[in-house]
Formats: sequence, C-alpha cells, structure tokens
Amino acid sequence: MRSGILTTGNPNGGPKVREFERIFAEFIGVKHAIAVNSGTSALYAALIAAGVGPGDEVIVPSFTFIATANVVLAVGAKPIFADIDLSTYNISVEEIRKKITPRTKAIIPVHLYGLPADMDPIMELAEEHNLVVIEDACQAHGSLYKGRKAGALGHMAAFSFYPSKIITTGEGGMITTNDDELAEKLRRIRTHGQVKGYDSVMFGMNLRMTEINAAIGIAQMKKIESFLQRRRKNALLMTEELSSLDDMIVLPTEPPGYTHNWYVYTIRLTNPSIRNKLQSYLRNEGIGAMVYYPIPLHKLPLYERLGYSKISLPNSELASQSVLSLPVHPLMSEEDVIYVAEKVKEGLRRIS
Ligand SMILES: Cc1ncc(COP(=O)(O)O)c(C=O)c1O
Repeated sequence: MRSGILTTGNPNGGPKVREFERIFAEFIGVKHAIAVNSGTSALYAALIAAGVGPGDEVIVPSFTFIATANVVLAVGAKPIFADIDLSTYNISVEEIRKKITPRTKAIIPVHLYGLPADMDPIMELAEEHNLVVIEDACQAHGSLYKGRKAGALGHMAAFSFYPSKIITTGEGGMITTNDDELAEKLRRIRTHGQVKGYDSVMFGMNLRMTEINAAIGIAQMKKIESFLQRRRKNALLMTEELSSLDDMIVLPTEPPGYTHNWYVYTIRLTNPSIRNKLQSYLRNEGIGAMVYYPIPLHKLPLYERLGYSKISLPNSELASQSVLSLPVHPLMSEEDVIYVAEKVKEGLRRIS
C-alpha cells in the first residue's frame, strides 16, 4: 500500500501482480501465469480466449462447484454434463466420449478435491476432435499427475485463491498456460481487451487482480510447500485412523501416478441414508464436516429451469447423497485428526 500503486489497468499488471505471476508460473512449471480477481474469472477468461461462444457446447462434470458450468452460460455456450467415476469423483473419460458432438468446442475437467482428472486420455480425445481443454484447477494447487503439476496439463488452467483454498489472496484467481498467443489474449481480456489503453482490440472485462491481493499471494507462496506437507500428513493419518471402517465408509484414493494435494478429504458412506445424521453428529461435536456438493449441478433449480431436469447422471447423484468431507487443513494438529477420526467412529456406532 505504501508503494502507491494499488492496481493498474495495464494488461501486463503492476509490479506485485507480475511478481506473483512469475512465482506461480515457476511453481506450476508453465511459461505463463495471468492473475485475475477470482477462479470464476479465470475460467471465464479462458473460455473467451478459446473463442467459445453461442452455438458451442462445453463438456463439464455436474459434480463440481457451480462456477465450472456458469462460466459456459456466461459466454453464451451450452454446458453438457458428463458423469464421474465414483472411485475418484472426477469426470469419466468414457462419459466425455459419449457426449462429444460436432458442436463440442471445449472440455473443462475439474481436479475435484485436489485429485487430478485422468488428463492423458482427455488430451488424446481433445486432439482427435480438435477441442480446447481448460483444467479447472481451482482446488488443485500443488497436485501432480504423472510427475507434472495440475495446471500444466491442458491448454489452459484456472486456479482460485478464495480463502478456503490451498493459498489465498482474499479473492483471486490465476490462469496458467504454455501458449504464448493465449497468454497475450488473456492479459488483454482481463482489462477490456485493451493493449495500451482505450484501444480495445477484442472483448474483455475488468477481471484484474489488485496489487494488494498479489502482495498477499506472494507471501502465501512462501508457505505453500509447508501447507501441502501438513495436509498430506493429516490426510495420511486420517486414512490410517479410519481404515478399520471399510465396510461402512469408502476412503479417498490416491491412485498410482497421482499426488493428491488433500485440499478436501472426502469419505463416502456405503449407506447414504446415514450421511446427514453423521454430519449433524460431527457438527454437534464442533467438527466442520461438510458436503461438497449436496446437489449435482443438473439438479439445481437454475439448471432444471434451463431444461436439464431429465438427464440422468447416476454416479454424480449417488456421490451427492453419500459424500462427507472431513477437515485435514494445515492448522490441525495430529491430536485434532485423531479426535475427528474417533468422533467419526463414535458417530457411526451410535447411528447405525
Ligand atoms: C472447482 C471450482 N471451480 C471454480 C471455483 C471458482 O473460484 P472462485 O470462488 O475463486 O471464483 C471454485 C472455488 O470456489 C472451485 O472449487
């Protein structure tokens, strides 16, 4: 704040924005990172840069946060929902294949809870059908897929720095890409398509990140490795503590070749009818057990009104009814994790 530059309309951003972008690009292992004011803006800008618009279809999962599909509506295109694999909660490659039509322009795979989607076959499909792949990496800072970071796997990727995320800037987002042309477009898109000022060469909006948010981001990046280590330690301990309950709950997986960032630690109740009771029990014990997400997007009033009510995505629907996320965040000690696991066991004993 003392620098006197709070923000700038320059497409290249102010000094703090550029520093944050450089550090983030290096962390992900990509050529370019473009900071914006939210994860939603990052996805929106990526769709504009990809030239997605009216008449186009974009394949997205339904079991995700609403932003993944709403950005498709925002550019005037049509979200096409594909079902997930129940073992990873991520979009199923086979289901994507079934949904491709001549109108399909892009795919937005979400790395849900921080576990990367199966990107190799998705990129192969995209190449075969000439589609743009935008990773929704809003939950996947630091996750790895076959040795490469999430955010370096598609044509573009979107990150969020909302307070609950791995790192935060208050509100904020980032687009990563290895494509020089897309990067230049994205810088313009975040500031009304301007190059030097008042000379819009293309469509854009004010999606800029402020210098204040970027300064917070730079400070957060110094801590990201320790945050990730702490989450991993907590998640592995949680799995150890809960492993005796494998007839009642399905624990989250980290398949070979994948590194989870443990943004969200999600269990699934084999009997969905007790999920809400267990959540209430845990919340009464002061534990922030959450359901991400209780309603798949195609069942939300907004999308039902848009005509999606008749589609059936059985895995997404079952996941919504049976998942429960337990806290493993970096402020939790080993004792806290053991306490949560004990309460899960106690809750299950009392309810069932
Ligand atoms: C999967 C997913 N996509 C998109 C977003 C949107 O990010 P933001 O809240 O920063 O707009 C979020 C986070 O909230 C998210 O979890």
